[in-house]
Amino acid sequence: MPAFVFATCLPRSAAWLKRDLARTRPDLRLAFSRPGLLTMRTDAALAEPEPVSPFVRASGHSLGFADTAAEVAALAATLPHPLRVHVFARDPADPDRDPEDPATVERVRAEVLAALGDAALPEPRAQAGELVLDVVLPPPGLSDRMLVGWHRHDARRGDAPGGVRRVSLPPDVPSRAWAKLEEALAWSRLPLREGDVVVEIGAAPGGAALALLQRGAEVIGIDPARMDPRVMAYGERGRFRHLGIHAERVRTADLPQRVDWLVLDANVSPHRAMTAVTHLLALRGRSIRGLLLTLKLNDDGVVDDLPQLLARVAEIAGVDALRVTQLPSAHQEVVVWAAREPAPGSTPRRAARAPR
Ligand SMILES: C[S@@+](CC[C@H](N)C(=O)[O-])C[C@H]1O[C@@H](n2cnc3c(N)ncnc32)[C@H](O)[C@@H]1O
Repeated sequence: MPAFVFATCLPRSAAWLKRDLARTRPDLRLAFSRPGLLTMRTDAALAEPEPVSPFVRASGHSLGFADTAAEVAALAATLPHPLRVHVFARDPADPDRDPEDPATVERVRAEVLAALGDAALPEPRAQAGELVLDVVLPPPGLSDRMLVGWHRHDARRGDAPGGVRRVSLPPDVPSRAWAKLEEALAWSRLPLREGDVVVEIGAAPGGAALALLQRGAEVIGIDPARMDPRVMAYGERGRFRHLGIHAERVRTADLPQRVDWLVLDANVSPHRAMTAVTHLLALRGRSIRGLLLTLKLNDDGVVDDLPQLLARVAEIAGVDALRVTQLPSAHQEVVVWAAREPAPGSTPRRAARAPR
């Protein structure tokens, strides 16, 4: 029996996704494609046939297409109950020009829940092992049909429907990295607490640093470039320190004894980023509990190197498994989350404040 599967991705990354799957999953045959969505068929007898790739945001088994909630329910009737229901929209081609429409997602979700009745669980948050019905809407401006699919939830996926919660950019932040960092925190489940110490490599002008500071973290921003005054203002309260040098030049005395999280968003090649991360881990590696790294995909060569680069990150970070995805606010890059064992004797702190 052939299996039909789907994958969503950033529309601008579809070529990279196809290239990656041609290498890792030659059994997959393209069935249908729209911007940000592929469906594929496989004749291979696999327990988990859905595609996995750094460029896949959400994936699962494909049941078909629907125009109405009643058609969604009819396609879902073949699945065992109860079902979690994830309704989400595909990424728009240009996220800056086509903001998402949460009202449409909410309306369709309410209609699908009503059509499914007792077969659906009302809360969307899925636990590992649960069966999730995926209803994938077109992005704003496109009138495609809804793709209906399902997946068995697991820890490698983000908690939000579609894998990641999209965050819009407030007007008063230094850079779009504010939204990127918020998306990355939600996707990675990084357990940031008030008072945690974060070192950020490539911190200027400071959107990500501001997001971290607003959540109660203490931040050391490493970047030879100038930081935004709104971030520097936290310095007066002792919460932010700017090291205006390249990360490779940081010395032990520049850092506090305990660093909890290492964030990297430097516009350098991933190979150079590895050098910077290795250097920081050599200085404060014992206490670092997790790494959130943006790897810039400057060209197709880097994309081809990605499997080796990810293996190298795992080796440097000393972890067995990484998670990797492309965030909605990302450009030509992937974000990598490496969770390490908590430092021995680390004391629990108060929960972080919610962002504004
Ligand atoms: C995309 S910007 C970072 C945006 C920033 N994270 C924010 O929240 O606004 C990339 C930054 O990396 C910095 N950078 C490049 N190489 C670096 C290095 N070796 N060490 C530290 N910063 C570096 C650049 O100066 C630049 O400001």
